[in-house]
Amino acid sequence: MTTQANPQVPDGCAFVIFGVTGDLTHRLVVPALYNLAEADLLPEKFCVVGITRSEMSSEDLRASLMHGLRKFATRPVNEDVADKLLYCVTAVSADPSDPPSFDRLRERLEKLEANRNTGGNRLFYLATPPDAFAPIATELGRAGLLQGNDQAWRRLIVEKPFGTDLASAKALNDHLLGIVAEHDLYRIDHYLGKETVQNILVLRFSNGMFEPIWNRDHIDHIQITVDEKLGVGHRGSFYDKTGALRDMVPNHLFQLLSLVAMEPPAHFNAHSVRSAKAEVLTAIQVQNEEEALRNSVRAQYIAGKVGDTEIPDYRSVKDVAPGSTTETYAALKLTIDNWRWAGVPFYLRTGKALGAKRTEVAIKFKQAPFAMFRCTPVEQLSQNYLVIGIEPVEGISLQFNTKIPGPTIAIDGVEMSFRYKDYFKVAPSNGYETLLHDCMIGDNILFQRADGVEAGWRAVQPFLDAWERAGANGLQTYEAGSEGPQDAETLLARDGRNWRGSAR
Ligand code: BG6
Repeated sequence: MTTQANPQVPDGCAFVIFGVTGDLTHRLVVPALYNLAEADLLPEKFCVVGITRSEMSSEDLRASLMHGLRKFATRPVNEDVADKLLYCVTAVSADPSDPPSFDRLRERLEKLEANRNTGGNRLFYLATPPDAFAPIATELGRAGLLQGNDQAWRRLIVEKPFGTDLASAKALNDHLLGIVAEHDLYRIDHYLGKETVQNILVLRFSNGMFEPIWNRDHIDHIQITVDEKLGVGHRGSFYDKTGALRDMVPNHLFQLLSLVAMEPPAHFNAHSVRSAKAEVLTAIQVQNEEEALRNSVRAQYIAGKVGDTEIPDYRSVKDVAPGSTTETYAALKLTIDNWRWAGVPFYLRTGKALGAKRTEVAIKFKQAPFAMFRCTPVEQLSQNYLVIGIEPVEGISLQFNTKIPGPTIAIDGVEMSFRYKDYFKVAPSNGYETLLHDCMIGDNILFQRADGVEAGWRAVQPFLDAWERAGANGLQTYEAGSEGPQDAETLLARDGRNWRGSAR
């Protein structure tokens, strides 16, 4: 039997989007708002204010958002629902380099709020490039737009990337927390909007059988893989400054790591869950540069074929420096210095332009200590993995050994698996629905807190420093469409281990 509490319908509010003409708003935010509208999970008293840098009419903005919705909706668009949502949209121009424009924004907003009877609750969504977060927040603060009271809340959502290293993340936290309180600041990591990622907590803490063996006594090591088929595409300028490590590890891969490795929180609320996650990230051993070089692999893709698509060299992508040493693939070995995980390596890898899309967490259990079956010595038994599939396979599988039917004892590895799509019939979403809804009802359990963000950067900083110092030395290449660099295999082979499913 399943139980599900009815989701709460949020209080009336104004949803203010900076970066409303951008890709993120069209691709993810508006389709998610549409899905919420269709599920009757938007407030009745609601308005969307789209902030544009230069003047734009509300009609033009609505037409552009509608175009985006038709292209990126995750389900067939019901025109009535879409019209009702877009009717709530108003375009207002404001630019942080023109402070009076924020005072005018306040006046416009107050009028819209009175018309729509939203009660003064405001949510500001910064779907902008990261260098705009601080200037926009500063102006919102100065113009009094973020100042809430007992009757009306004010919240700020910022997208990733949150900083580019430890120092910049700290500076951004300090800056934003000088304007808005931690509980009103929502740092998005879209991985936390994924059902399969949220399910890690449920898997661990709603079943009695996993937690007793979820530790160094029974687990040999953990692998976290986020392989992508896509190359860098048209994001050369952003990506060349960023690289695979910054783009994926302190945020998405560390979200997976912290959910898998955290201690059971005292309560299922934002404070307890975020504290437990931050604590485990703080326990990641901070390596020195020499260790960081030994425990990492970085590589860049060269021309190849992903499926039928020809992918050119990374260095020939538009806006990428011809001699760039930015990595498009990163693999790391980390350890967590605490009672539960001492001696259990965590291997992380992520890369672009690989042969297959695969996002998963694989928990490898220790081998049976001894095998009494003469036909199959321990080292030939297949490995026991619990695999949490995030994408494209959404589900959980367990790999174990079984007897091959027949007169002799012969053993083979088999898999028992659960797939979301076979079990649950749910309307497809893009992951932002839960995050936006949570923000409107004031639940920050799925958002990152300052200490968690900083702990993540602290753990990756030695790799960033060591790689920067090494420059081209040690940067490997891999062919687009392959499994990644050979050295990533060596990273595990050195410890007598291998990546799950590796064909090499
Ligand atoms: C983004 C990164 O945050 O996550 C992209 O900037 C990456 O480079 C994307 O492709 C991966 O997300 P997902 O949900 O496709 O695994």
